[in-house]
Amino acid sequence: MTNGFFITFEGGEGCGKSTQARLLSEELNSQGYNTILTREPGGVSSAERIRKILVEGEKNSLFPMTELLLLFAARFEHVERKIKPELNNGNIVICDRFYDSSLAYQGYGHGIDLNKIEHLKSLTIDSFQPDLTFLLDLPVMEGLSRSKRTNNKELRFENMDVSFHEKLQNGFNQIAKNNSTRFSIIDASQSIEQIKKIILNIVLDKITINKEP
Ligand code: TYD
Repeated sequence: MTNGFFITFEGGEGCGKSTQARLLSEELNSQGYNTILTREPGGVSSAERIRKILVEGEKNSLFPMTELLLLFAARFEHVERKIKPELNNGNIVICDRFYDSSLAYQGYGHGIDLNKIEHLKSLTIDSFQPDLTFLLDLPVMEGLSRSKRTNNKELRFENMDVSFHEKLQNGFNQIAKNNSTRFSIIDASQSIEQIKKIILNIVLDKITINKEP
């Protein structure tokens, strides 16, 4: 049992989750909570090195199964070295993407059998999961055009076909439906300020519930 609180942000390309993760972390810190902002793939130095292999280079340079294995290797380091220790210290950990992204991208997007992904999960992080997950939902074309406007060299996933991005958006919605108590779906076409407020209210509500016996 931990006494911290683990929040993740999920969504397709260009949905604004990284901005919202940062804004939430800043707001909670300013309200006196201790928050740690981190990301996947990455978050610790070994996992950041794995990230470079995953996000740079040609779009077909890795088999989906290679991607999946690298993602779980990075995730195991991240969870054991950073996320769990921070939660055990009573901190709020906010992570930009987590396991649900592997189900959406490698499972629904690339077609790896979801049971195989579940199996890898049970071999590595087992039943460890976020307390709360925000899915920032945005039409695929809007997300892709937002994401291409930013000056970004991490384009391997952005360069996949539109049909890939549609599959992963459907995947995220299905995952959210299957885990409805953990997920909050946010309409990401609203303004940054509106989304920030909605997210903050949900978090403050859940943290209070979490503190009470
Ligand atoms: P991220 O930094 O969140 O990129 P963006 O903000 O552009 O969405 O994630 C990097 C890429 O890694 C992203 O294209 C999605 C991919 N990814 C997976 O395919 N599976 C995973 O499990 C994770 C965590 C990320």
